[in-house]
Amino acid sequence: MARIAVIPGDGIGVEVMAQAVKVLRSVDEAAGLGLELVEWDHGAERYLRTGVAITDEEMAELATGYDAILLGALGDPRIPDNAHAREILLGLRFRLDLYVNLRPIRLYDPSFSPLKDIGPADLDLDIFRENTEGLYVGLGGAFKRGTADEIAIEEDVNTRKGVERIIRAAFEFAHSAGRGRVTLADKANAMRYVGDLWRRVFAEVGAEYPDIEREALFVDALALDLVLRPSRYRVIVTSNLFGDILSDLAAALAGGLGLAPSANLHPGRPGLFEPVHGSAPDLAGKDRANPLAAVLTAALMLDHLGYAREAARIEAAVRRSIEERRTTPDLGGELGTSAVGDWLSQAVREG
Ligand code: NAD
Ligand code: IPM
Ligand code: MN
Repeated sequence: MARIAVIPGDGIGVEVMAQAVKVLRSVDEAAGLGLELVEWDHGAERYLRTGVAITDEEMAELATGYDAILLGALGDPRIPDNAHAREILLGLRFRLDLYVNLRPIRLYDPSFSPLKDIGPADLDLDIFRENTEGLYVGLGGAFKRGTADEIAIEEDVNTRKGVERIIRAAFEFAHSAGRGRVTLADKANAMRYVGDLWRRVFAEVGAEYPDIEREALFVDALALDLVLRPSRYRVIVTSNLFGDILSDLAAALAGGLGLAPSANLHPGRPGLFEPVHGSAPDLAGKDRANPLAAVLTAALMLDHLGYAREAARIEAAVRRSIEERRTTPDLGGELGTSAVGDWLSQAVREG
């Protein structure tokens, strides 16, 4: 038994989440998990209609009434300042204190990568993105806005506690998953105070894991090397903004955003699971969005809920859909979003 809040959201979020739900229902029927999926209609439409993105009561209900939250994507061209997405998505991450943003990158098929001579073992990494601090906290302000003397300030907030817990999560993961190296990405050469904190804590926490090699790199150099020598990287730990950028880059190396799942976690508490991609207004309504990131996200969620076998069953179906090119055009197939979902539901049912 698990109670899951499903927030499809906006644009392709709605289309891909419909497929993830189909696949979840089908695995549930086959395995008798007793999943209860409760749909929430929060997103741009509701915000434009009511002027409210999400209420405090609803936030509290999401925090306490569910075992997990599954989210499609939020973002709509009619809301250019992204206010509703910030309130809902960043609101959930911050208020539920989901400090680990885990973004696994796997190469399901070498032909998906823009890199040449690459195999699945060469691109197999997990990004640990700090998810509750940094440049995302919204501390700042504007002065003399709209004038020639305008000033805009956005504070980069890094606490000892926040830095330590994400670094520890990365080392713990490396330790239990048998990964031999953790790489820190920062910008300590330009950002001296924040850089100093991250590097000191990285060395201190890392010293507790003598079997794991640690390496601190400047994020620009890492971006370069990730493209040139991806196989060196297994676990990357970094700040909120750098993690956002690196996870899109790494996803591109593995075949694009259509394949990248993610989990927002606070160990021991309900998590928020979402594909890395956004609402892709350029694709919305065309039945062309790749639903695999959303489906793999559902598998990641089941895994965290303790249903490892069912998660593996979904991943196996995804692998088979890729082998047989039952995919959307971005992965070389000819199916629409919904047809991929139908195919996967059937494949999961057959086990
Ligand atoms: P995006 O991730 O929506 O799209 C980037 C590119 O990737 C586009 O070319 C898009 O067509 C492609 N793409 C994305 N998902 C795909 C899929 N499933 N299958 C095939 N191709 C896919 O990023 P963006 O265009 O910068 O943002 C659009 C909106 O989404 C913005 O409002 C942004 O703020 C929001 N956004 C939301 C989330 C979220 O809710 N988690 C994440 C990222 C962006
Ligand atoms: C992501 C998105 C969000 C982020 C945006 C929509 C605020 O890009 O989840 O990667 O930057 O965290
Ligand atoms: Mn992003």
